[in-house]
Amino acid sequence: MYSKLMTCLASVKEKIDFKPEVALILGSGLGDYADEIRIVDTIEYTEIEGFPVSTVKGHKGRFVFGYVEETPVVIMQGRVHYYEGYPMSDVVLPTRLMGMLGAKKILLTNAAGGVNDTYKPGDFMLITDHITTGVPSPLIGPNIEELGTRFPDMSEVYSVRLQSVIRKCAVQCKIDIKEGVYVQFTGPNYETPAEVRLARIWGGDAVGMSTACEAMAARHMGLEVCGISCITNMAAGLSKQELNHKEVQETADRVAKSFKELVTMVVTSI
Ligand code: HPA
Repeated sequence: MYSKLMTCLASVKEKIDFKPEVALILGSGLGDYADEIRIVDTIEYTEIEGFPVSTVKGHKGRFVFGYVEETPVVIMQGRVHYYEGYPMSDVVLPTRLMGMLGAKKILLTNAAGGVNDTYKPGDFMLITDHITTGVPSPLIGPNIEELGTRFPDMSEVYSVRLQSVIRKCAVQCKIDIKEGVYVQFTGPNYETPAEVRLARIWGGDAVGMSTACEAMAARHMGLEVCGISCITNMAAGLSKQELNHKEVQETADRVAKSFKELVTMVVTSI
């Protein structure tokens, strides 16, 4: 795995010379943000040797390098999901790559289903912790000693310092941000109502198909991690509506403006 990472890293470095400070992963429907920063360079995932290539409609697959105000960033416009069939180690390869390019902090975003019944579609949720019981750990397999330790501590995956930065930014953006625990399932199907009840009993507030694995890989290699979910729908069983990707996209579009404002403020404040 490490040699695969080094091949990808060499392939990226051959094309661009840029040291990001902050890494950002854009979730479903939130990808447009990358088009609005001061772009220095982009690389399609397909151009990177050995890179897992995303297949979901509406997920653009490229790294965008540039500046949010003065902050050098690398953005994943479209992520790799476990449900596409890649092993977890491939799913988190891009996250690791961004860390190896020099990013010290990472902001993870996603579209998620609300499990906490006080949430409503269009809310943002600061991720305070996660549960990955339903998916394999991205750290399974030989440990990459160059990145981190065999048995990494996960008692503060989402940096308390960055959480407090996000809370302050939300206040400034006049966003009533919620807080909670993100539960990752494999997808690509949405959960059953019984699985959503289980997620609630476990202590979850939102469910989704990404993010937590990336957070673990980033934490393993010592990055400071933070995350924001966009609650695009109430999870199965919490509303009468049938779930579909269109609703997820529509809600994400509806809140895109405040999302962009919040992300810009967070990236420049962390
Ligand atoms: N479940 C899982 N993933 C999701 C959902 C959901 O309800 N909404 C957006 N992504």
